Amino acid sequence: MGSVLTIRGGIPLTGKVSVRGAKNLVPKAMVASLLGNTPSVLRNVPEIKDVDVVTSLLQLHGVEVTKDPVTGDLTMDPLNAKMAQSKDIDAHAGDSRIPILFCGPLMHSIGEAFIPDLGGCKIGDRPIDYHLEVLRNFGAVVEKRTGGISISAPKGLHGAKVALPYPSVGATEQVLLTAIRAEGITELSNAAVEPEIMDLIAVLQKMGAIITVQTDRVIRIEGVKELTGYNHKAISDRNETASWACAALVTKGDIYVEGARQVDLTAFLNTLRKIGGAFDVDDDGIRFYHPGGALSPLVLETDVHPGFMTDWQQPLVVALTQAAGVSIVHETVYENRFGFTDALMRMGASIQVHRECLGSIPCRFGQMNFLHSAVISGPTELRGTDIDIPDLRGGFSHLIAALAADGVSRVTGIELINRGYERFQDKLEGLGADFDITEDAPAVAVTLP
Ligand code: EPU
Repeated sequence: MGSVLTIRGGIPLTGKVSVRGAKNLVPKAMVASLLGNTPSVLRNVPEIKDVDVVTSLLQLHGVEVTKDPVTGDLTMDPLNAKMAQSKDIDAHAGDSRIPILFCGPLMHSIGEAFIPDLGGCKIGDRPIDYHLEVLRNFGAVVEKRTGGISISAPKGLHGAKVALPYPSVGATEQVLLTAIRAEGITELSNAAVEPEIMDLIAVLQKMGAIITVQTDRVIRIEGVKELTGYNHKAISDRNETASWACAALVTKGDIYVEGARQVDLTAFLNTLRKIGGAFDVDDDGIRFYHPGGALSPLVLETDVHPGFMTDWQQPLVVALTQAAGVSIVHETVYENRFGFTDALMRMGASIQVHRECLGSIPCRFGQMNFLHSAVISGPTELRGTDIDIPDLRGGFSHLIAALAADGVSRVTGIELINRGYERFQDKLEGLGADFDITEDAPAVAVTLP
């Protein structure tokens, strides 16, 4: 049985929410704890499902994980790290893609790793070819087995010159987590430089790593023999912040996001201002609100940092359904991230998705069969409807649309939202949303790739 969220829309969301550690940093910092020879402490940890998954995976590998009952801080002690059973890893990995990042740390601490076939949100093929190629560069032997891949380093791991075909966040993290204890120097070119990666580098530096971020996406890592544990406060979740910002705009509300960091949101804030959203920044967070008047359309392309992030695209598209005129959004990071627009169209939005690149950023999906450009005409009134949530960001966008819509929406699959939005139901309640939850829906089959 799954839960059904029944939303009675049309109420401006008003009030304050707190945003804690980034979903796209916290699990990786947790994995890094395996590399230390003393316990690590991670602070500002959100209560989200991805953290639970990594906690279970660390525990399976012999890491003692304790959570402070008051602050939620995690202490991770890797002293008794050991090999886990592949069937147990598989059972605990759920739909997360984080297990692939265990490879380097496990090879360093116990000499081998088994990685189950991976899940993650349904937003494209999401291959792991860059990861495997990178690991081979370090001297790892990668073998496909039933249900996953087995990785070992019989001759140890050595530094390497690595060039990524695309600045992949995960593959950059793979290099960092593997290179810091590999023998010799690693030079990574075409690296991703997202704020969450910079925060992971800060974690690794606290552990004793020597990492230099050079110009032009080059990262140089000098391998060290030993690392200690770290004590670190995770960077706040800029994707959750962007989601609440759009919720304030679309519902014509006023939301103060405590913990939001302007410096990580520059591209988003510029875009929000261009379409007519307002924000005030102070030392503790950012207030987002609709200043009145019509919203303006715009032409936008998603990109790797410092561009407009792909995870901000879905809530922004909901806002663009309310802008007066035609907007164009070209998604260049994932090939299949417009599936969520089907539900918006059923709610009354006018959106066409196209295979062509409607933009100028060189895109890997241009001559292929992927619907990766959207044309949105607005403003359109949104009407409540039944929605089954497809993925994390698309799903939260559906909630925003339902909260702004006229009438009632029944939303299923909300468990997916818990992967990355901490206590979102409590936050919605605090903002004055009118909704209730029942547990009597027939089970919704959620199959992730
Ligand atoms: N790619 C490959 N081969 C690989 C790895 C990536 O072709 O081996 C491709 C992907 O298919 C995609 C592109 O490279 O088209 C970028 O993928 P990337 O590796 O950067 O993404 P990721 O590390 O899997 C993280 C976040 C995503 C976020 C992206 C981009 C985590 C756990 N996930 O994914 O977050 O969209 O970076 O910034 O950190 C989300 O939060 O909802 C989410 C999907």
